[in-house]
Amino acid sequence: MSKNIFRTKSINQFLSETKQDGGMNRVLGTFGLTMLGIGCIVGTGIFVLTGIAAANFSGPALVISFVIAALACGCAALCYSEFAAMIPVAGSAYTYGYVALGEFWAWVIGWDLILEYTLALSAVSIGWSGYFGNILTNLGLALPKEFITAPEEGGLINLPAMAIIWIITLINMKGITQSSLVNDIIVVIKLAVVGLFIALGVSHVDPANWTPFMPYGWSGVFTGASVIFFAYIGFDAVSTAAEEVKNPQKDLPRGIILSLVICTVLYIAVSAILTGMVPYLQFKTTAAPVAYALQLVGYHWGAAAVSVGAICGLTSVLLVMCLGQSRILFVMSRDGLLPRFFGHINQKTKTPVRSSLLVAVVSSILAGLVPIGVVAEMVNIGTLGAFIIVSASVIILRKKAPDRVRPFRCPLVPLIPILAILFCGVLVVMLPTITQIRFVVWLAIGLVIYFGYGYKHSIITKAQKGTLTAPVSAAAEEPAQAPALHEGAHSTIEH
Ligand code: ALA
Repeated sequence: MSKNIFRTKSINQFLSETKQDGGMNRVLGTFGLTMLGIGCIVGTGIFVLTGIAAANFSGPALVISFVIAALACGCAALCYSEFAAMIPVAGSAYTYGYVALGEFWAWVIGWDLILEYTLALSAVSIGWSGYFGNILTNLGLALPKEFITAPEEGGLINLPAMAIIWIITLINMKGITQSSLVNDIIVVIKLAVVGLFIALGVSHVDPANWTPFMPYGWSGVFTGASVIFFAYIGFDAVSTAAEEVKNPQKDLPRGIILSLVICTVLYIAVSAILTGMVPYLQFKTTAAPVAYALQLVGYHWGAAAVSVGAICGLTSVLLVMCLGQSRILFVMSRDGLLPRFFGHINQKTKTPVRSSLLVAVVSSILAGLVPIGVVAEMVNIGTLGAFIIVSASVIILRKKAPDRVRPFRCPLVPLIPILAILFCGVLVVMLPTITQIRFVVWLAIGLVIYFGYGYKHSIITKAQKGTLTAPVSAAAEEPAQAPALHEGAHSTIEH
């Protein structure tokens, strides 16, 4: 078995599987993908976690924490881009791990991504519920605390958090075209609100607020980076839409890198202005730091606009996370590692309806009953784990399949992937020990499921036993030429 768990599938096999059940609709281009990326990236991180990180860890050096996290994500994004262009299938990092490292590591990454997306969905929806409650309170329509708070925090259930997950799921189940349109509208509102904050705030910066610059030292700056890393999560979700992209070889790297660059520039501007407007310790008193800063200098209408924009921002993060999660489950079940039931594509909507429903059930239960802190901490570690394995996979596949056509090549290999591993590794180390322990427990549960179910039901096992109808070649030779997946691949393309 030890040799068998590192069995791989060929890239061409993954590509041919995307055509099963008629495949998904190919409607997204570079613009749509970049919007999808920004839709998933700008959210709780910038609207909520900036204040927590500045007050408790980074101080005014929050901007350095953002740069450190951006470096980790930038190196990982270049690695993701190489794979996304070469293997444009919905499984994202899970598939990259499958090709480079074999089934076992693919399962580990997939299990990691399930953690990332499910808990991010829960965490962001709890944040959404908080903003929603605030706005209702300001309108004089406050909800009873029992129905907007988790049991551990003195409530009964967080109903708005659960409701928003189901609304987003229904939008996603209607198909990628609708999802993408809703996302584009929300992203425009969100970017306008961030732009408004920068425009209003920049003239109210008092450089005295930047002293002392690093009140908690470098260790605080790095811990701050491990917290606000959450703000960048989402560029990786762009690659999960690979099977819905018109020209994946070009559009995917562009979408991933563009969305990350745009968000990095915005974050650096927002964090510098925010810490320049408000003495960092004052952020301890607010859960809405961006609106708070505007309120402090007298822009009450600006603060209200930011609150509405934050609600929109959090909604679009939920939309893309939900999309990404259901697609990862879909690909894992297509490979037999999860029950086949979830890999089914609904012929009417061309979306994986069953996996979308599974995601909604699990994440809404968590969102209704668990506090935000517990779920949010886990998201970062799961994502960092996946980034590390993807970066290692780039180096390994360059050795295993050096002649493979790479429409996008990560520059300076192995330096960039090694830097990605180091940066992400440091951020993992800086997270709280309890988070690291919970992560190990999660991985252990994953191993039980893999050896109890996935290994036996994997389509590679079935092919080896001769019980699979479609031919599968474990560790098949790679032809040098990658097929142009986008050319006439489907009858379902919408123009
Ligand atoms: N980056 C996303 C956010 O900040 C997950 O909400």
